[in-house]
This record gives sequence, C-alpha cells and structure tokens, in this order.
Amino acid sequence: EHGLHPPSYPWPHEGFFSAYDHRSIRRGFQVYTQVCATCHSMDLIHYRDLVGVCYTEEEAKELASNIEVTDGPNDEGEMFERPGKLSDKLPAPYMNEEHARYANGGAYPPDLSLITKARHNGQNYVFSLLLGYREPPAGISVREGLHYNPYFPGGAIAMPKMLNDGGVEYDDGTPATEAQQAKDVVSYLSWAAEPEADERKLMGAKWIAVLSLVFLTTVYYKRWKWAPLK
Ligand code: HEM
Repeated sequence: EHGLHPPSYPWPHEGFFSAYDHRSIRRGFQVYTQVCATCHSMDLIHYRDLVGVCYTEEEAKELASNIEVTDGPNDEGEMFERPGKLSDKLPAPYMNEEHARYANGGAYPPDLSLITKARHNGQNYVFSLLLGYREPPAGISVREGLHYNPYFPGGAIAMPKMLNDGGVEYDDGTPATEAQQAKDVVSYLSWAAEPEADERKLMGAKWIAVLSLVFLTTVYYKRWKWAPLK
C-alpha cells in the first residue's frame, strides 16, 4: 500500500547548475546528531567526510574527539576506549538490528546514509514524513505504539513525531522551527546519499563548455577549408 504522494518541493540543489546549500547541510548535521542519531545510524559517513563540506578540519576533529571509540586489541590483547578521530564513522546507536528492534518495540530504524535514494522520491518523502504527523481521521484507529502519518506506506509508523519548534540548537543562530529542521536534515541526508553531486555537475558544465568550443572551432575550420571550393 502506498502512502500519500508528497508534494514536490524546490530543493535548492536540484538542477544542472545548482550546488548544495552547505550552511543547510551543516544545520542538518546538527539535527541528525541531536535528534535522529538516538535511533538511526549513518554507517557510510566518517568525520573526515564532513571536512570542506560543512566543517573545517579543526572543527571535524573536535567533533570526532567528543565520541568514545572501542579499539584494539593492544599489545596486551585488550580492547580499549579512545577519543574519536577523523577516520572514525559516526557512532551507531545500537550494536545490531536485534538490539535496535528490541529498543523500538520490534520496528527497525533504518540506516539513513542512503535513505533519500532508497525511497522513491526520497527528499520530498522524508521531508513530508517528518512533518506529516497528525490526528487520524474519524473512523481510523492506530494500533498501540504506532503513529498516524499518511505519508508512510500503510499510514501507521513506529517512529513518533520527532521534530518540534526549538527542538535543536543551531550554531549559526537560525531559528529552529520544525519546518526548518526538516528542510535542513533533508539537505544533509541528500548530500550524504550523493556527496559527489556538486563535483559531478561542475564537471558536466566544464565538459559542455569545452565541447561547445571544439564544435564551434570545427564548424569554422570546415567553412574556411571549403570556402574556395564552392
Ligand atoms: C523510520 C527518518 C528520528 C525511530 C524512519 C524512516 C525515516 C526516518 C526516513 C523510514 C521510513 C520508511 O521506512 O520509509 C528519521 C529522521 C529522524 C528520525 C530524519 C530525525 C529527525 C528517529 C528517532 C527514533 C526513530 C529519534 C527513535 C526514537 C524510527 C523507527 C523507524 C523509523 C522505529 C521504523 C518505522 C517503521 O518501520 O514503522 N525514520 N528518523 N527515528 N524511525 Fe526515524
């Protein structure tokens, strides 16, 4: 069963010549770490990936150093705890899927690294889903532990409403409304699922520029060559 079809929103990074909004990615990372990371892992993202995207190398090192990572074994064959480094992944909230399901009443909060690609119309879907919680319409009842959300296939989701006005603290002072948080976390998740998009579009634009020049030169050369032979 399909969920309600989400509207199409004008994402600033959609289009041949537009790049990600890196300030939005940075705020979205703050939404992810302050809210979503309690239940969702992002296994494909390392602290180093944030460098030059939404944090400086110093800032990313500092962020990484705030987590504890189990490493080892050392020379004595023991595991040990150390502060995180740039090469570490973002920390996962659970040990494995069984642990995650146990903590969430049987439901599994999926890894969010590729979620905007894994779901049809992912960006609009995640945005609508996060803001889509409401009272069930008359006549519809939702099982204990589930929440009514028309955008989720089936209409009842195990994830409670997560975003609330002022629910996160932005370091750039942007007012953290619910909709702002939803937009920013989708910017961040879109970047995470397709970090090379800016580069790819830039290369595309360069190729088109170079090929146009080559084409014009060829036309000019051909005309010049053939001019006396008319
Ligand atoms: C599912 C995003 C926070 C628990 C999902 C899904 C997305 C998502 C996109 C997948 C829906 C689908 O399968 O199509 C987010 C974002 C969050 C967030 C962006 C932060 C803003 C949380 C938190 C919890 C949580 C804090 C736990 C308290 C779950 C669970 C599911 C889920 C249990 C599975 C739902 C089901 O299968 O019924 N979330 N989530 N989420 N999330 Fe979250």
